[in-house]
Amino acid sequence: MNLSIQSESPRYATTGILVLASFLGSCSSGGGDDQGPGGEDLEQLVSQLRGVITAQSIQPVPDAPSLSADLVELGRALYFDKEISGNRDVSCATCHLASRAGSDARTLPSGVGGSGLGPDRLAGAMVPRHSPVNLNSFHGQAMFWDGRVEFRPPPGGGPPELMTPAGVAMDATITGVFTPGLETLAAQAILPPTSRAEMRGEIGESELGDIVDGNFTEIWDAIVARLVSFPAYVGMFQDAYPGLLVGDIHIGHVGNALAAFEASELQCTDSPFQAFLEGDDLALTATEIRGALEFFSPASRCTVCHSGPFFSDFNFHNIGLPQLGPGKGNGLGSNDDFGRENVTGLAQDRYKFRTPSLLNVALTGPYGHAGQYSTLSSIVAHYRNVATALDDYNIMDHVTNPDLIATQVANQTEVLANLAPSLANPLQFSVTDVTAFLESLSATDALDLSGIVPPSVPSGHTIDL
Ligand code: HEC
Ligand code: HEC
Repeated sequence: MNLSIQSESPRYATTGILVLASFLGSCSSGGGDDQGPGGEDLEQLVSQLRGVITAQSIQPVPDAPSLSADLVELGRALYFDKEISGNRDVSCATCHLASRAGSDARTLPSGVGGSGLGPDRLAGAMVPRHSPVNLNSFHGQAMFWDGRVEFRPPPGGGPPELMTPAGVAMDATITGVFTPGLETLAAQAILPPTSRAEMRGEIGESELGDIVDGNFTEIWDAIVARLVSFPAYVGMFQDAYPGLLVGDIHIGHVGNALAAFEASELQCTDSPFQAFLEGDDLALTATEIRGALEFFSPASRCTVCHSGPFFSDFNFHNIGLPQLGPGKGNGLGSNDDFGRENVTGLAQDRYKFRTPSLLNVALTGPYGHAGQYSTLSSIVAHYRNVATALDDYNIMDHVTNPDLIATQVANQTEVLANLAPSLANPLQFSVTDVTAFLESLSATDALDLSGIVPPSVPSGHTIDL
């Protein structure tokens, strides 16, 4: 990636400034922040954190698999091209904006039919879950808030298998072209164009919208038919997959290229904390180190779930968040979201969601599976006493869209009944320090992703960024 901090660009101003400030702060560890509350100096804090890192064997983020440049270029074009949406009005980038570190800075995304971008986007179809950051998604384990695409050993043991949502006909022809290591990303990537709200649109709007729900094969074939009508795309597919005949191009090739682009170009790990892990003792401020010590301490419980180099166990937990928005058709009013239960059918999985990675988390608010908390410190504060936080939650503090304000579901009792055991009691930690630590997980190369945007796409459509 060829990236630089472009603070003169107004597009980057809102997300950039805060983070830039914390990044600069990180470089000047000597600046007034070098004494802990007990008078510990920075050197002591550094050695304490080094001790924890060794004891818990905390590792830097590994590199993504290396991929052919032609495959990445095809994926880049597809990612930014609205041609794969029914009305040719939405691309992947519409909800995963390069200017917003791969998210959209909205409570809930606005899909087909919308105009404008990010928080200013109006009138599009409302999507029930928050657009997660898709940086560093090459971990390859569980995709989506409910993990409905997974690559893991089956419950009975054995080699990892790709698991896709029930009813999705992803046969061996499709999955057979997925690059090893990219299975979940590739399978994930061919699903958004099948969603009416996200990309496909309604009956009567386009040949993609006219296809009956659930007929995945027909939708995918129609998308491929559109793409191969552009000679430039045919050339790119044949460069990416040498020897591939036009008639043999299928949606698996599309998904695999999107995955290659995401793994290679949306890999943003050069954060102050990563620098510290790689040996730079001056990479973190005293506040960030104190926050790290609290984060990694058993008292805060954070690493019960946010573990490993990606800060996720890729497992499913109920952390007691309120529910808002159109929901997933669950509960009395059909606007609740049962999370993992929708995948497994098990009542014990109700309100459980996949632990999100915390890499670059400061860049990608709002937070939670429905964007319930508007700021990082507010979701961190939630953990100090989950039951009280849920009872006291005031949607007006976090949500500006008037259509959403009336949608909060009165499910507090049910949510708390199935809360993660580790969050049942109040937890002791400093919200300020832990938030500062989380800010140190922001990568410099995530601040300006303009280098990943192609100058144009084969269809000639405008590019959302
Ligand atoms: C209308 C907005 C929208 C569009 C368009 C969209 N996405 Fe997403 N994306 C989302 C939302 C919302 C989720 C989470 C959905 C869920 O978990 O149920 C998501 C999830 C993801 C994830 C999983 C991230 C994770 O950590 O689990 C990836 C990767 C991703 N999208 C990539 C893509 C690609 C590639 C495209 C284009 C083919 C695309 N998205 C189009 C909104 C969108
Ligand atoms: C029991 C497991 C568990 C524990 C313990 C836990 N988390 Fe989480 N965390 C999750 C899950 C699951 C989510 C997503 C929940 C949802 O959206 O419904 C989440 C979401 C978050 C988010 C929002 C991320 C985003 O992109 O929206 C932040 C920030 C966060 N956790 C920080 C922390 C901190 C700090 C601690 C310790 C004080 C902590 N977590 C403890 C499982 C856990």
